[in-house]
Amino acid sequence: MSAGRGGLYRSRLEEMDEEALSYLSSLAEDQEILLEDIEGTEAHVIMLCEQGIIPRDDAAKILLALEELREKVLQGELRLEGGYEDVHELIESKVIEKLGIEVGGKLHTGRSRNDQVALDIRLRIRRLLLELWRAALKLAEELLSRAEKELETPMIHYTHLQHAQIGYVSQYLLAHLDHLLRDIERMESCYRRTNKSPLGACAVAGSTLPLNRELVARLLGFDGVVENSVDAVSSRDFALEALSAAAIMMTNLSRIAEDIIIWSTSEFGYLELPDSLASPSSIMPHKKNPCILELLRAKTAKVIGLLAGSLALMKGIPTGYDRDLQEGKPMIWEALKETRSSLMMMAKTIRLVRFNADRLREAVEQSYAPAIELTEALMKHAGLSLREAHKLVGYMVKLLHEQGRALKTLKPEELSAAASRVLGKSIIVPPEILERAIEPAEIMRQRMTLGSASPQEIRRMLEKRREALNQAWARLREVENNLLLARQFFEESLEKIAKK
Ligand code: ARG
Repeated sequence: MSAGRGGLYRSRLEEMDEEALSYLSSLAEDQEILLEDIEGTEAHVIMLCEQGIIPRDDAAKILLALEELREKVLQGELRLEGGYEDVHELIESKVIEKLGIEVGGKLHTGRSRNDQVALDIRLRIRRLLLELWRAALKLAEELLSRAEKELETPMIHYTHLQHAQIGYVSQYLLAHLDHLLRDIERMESCYRRTNKSPLGACAVAGSTLPLNRELVARLLGFDGVVENSVDAVSSRDFALEALSAAAIMMTNLSRIAEDIIIWSTSEFGYLELPDSLASPSSIMPHKKNPCILELLRAKTAKVIGLLAGSLALMKGIPTGYDRDLQEGKPMIWEALKETRSSLMMMAKTIRLVRFNADRLREAVEQSYAPAIELTEALMKHAGLSLREAHKLVGYMVKLLHEQGRALKTLKPEELSAAASRVLGKSIIVPPEILERAIEPAEIMRQRMTLGSASPQEIRRMLEKRREALNQAWARLREVENNLLLARQFFEESLEKIAKK
């Protein structure tokens, strides 16, 4: 058996050109699926033995050899080198080196690298999705506890980055929590579609051997099989879905990052990053730069690019396995890992950022944003139509702005005088009504609509989200528990054949 240079599979072919092999080989990037590959192979061999396709003695030897390799991987002792096409050829070659071709040569029975690599990818994405899921839930926890802490810290909500309406920091945080909870739902449902076993599809159309596909699926903790063998080896939509979910989530994180970057400027001064998450300048001693958040913004661009690259890779390849698919694997790992670390960075940021309540309150007090509530008060208490009130309040804001006065300083007589001028009618607005319509704290208590920036609505939403988050944690725990149970079944099945 010639080690390497694609030797294992070249029964028909002469030796491969060295440069061509290095162009072709995925060995280096297969580090990511090394453990998955061994685990999948073990499950396959257990099944071959249980089905009587290979003798128990041979299966035992193969399984022990695989366990030895797994141990080496865990010790960091297995080097991915030696001119193999990929991890699949390397692992099989190592087993054959140890046991000889008569015994070791049975390991790949009934399997193709096509269903094998599809399996490895599903196993790896599954692990990454679980990590992402957990990291996202941790960020959700931070958003929720921070919202509880900042329940009545006022802030201006923006549209077009111009003052829009006044509200609370807590509601801003809850908005992103809701977005994140949907991101988590997307990951969950993607997990459920990813968690199906393609093994047993063989090259593309199945096998004449009595392979037990369900058993392999059970051993590896999958919720069933990808039934159609052509679908099983051809499809990567689960990966595209994971990438899309990651890109959508990153896009949201990037917007939070952008908000924090803007609000931490001296011009806004709404919040301050902790030193532990800020960067200095090599020349400007005063600097406190939000580099982590800028990088998060950039990594979002990268993840979007990796999604676009993966979609482009998929769109033109013929049905079945094509080697193009090999190039898609590193894009998936990279995108999901960048997303995972970004989630962790954002969780730290949300926990440690300091909101400057005084500055936020001052901005709210000075803002013309309550103009909308004043408009509503004029409709309710002075019998004006929306358009009349809009004209009147717009006129008032223009005037106050020219005089450098805040909306809060508006007097009832000024309003009445303006009504005669602008609308040609006289209105009476009782002073206490006007006061309530332009006083920020009062305004927020008067908000009546579901999900609005009122303390009572935010409190209600907080409670509901706490409940939703608890349920989301419970679903993750259930999935993790299923995997643990499957792992026990796997280990028992392996022990039964290959006593160590
Ligand atoms: N290294 C390949 C990949 O990553 C494994 C599958 C190769 N299959 C094949 N029929 N050549 O996709």
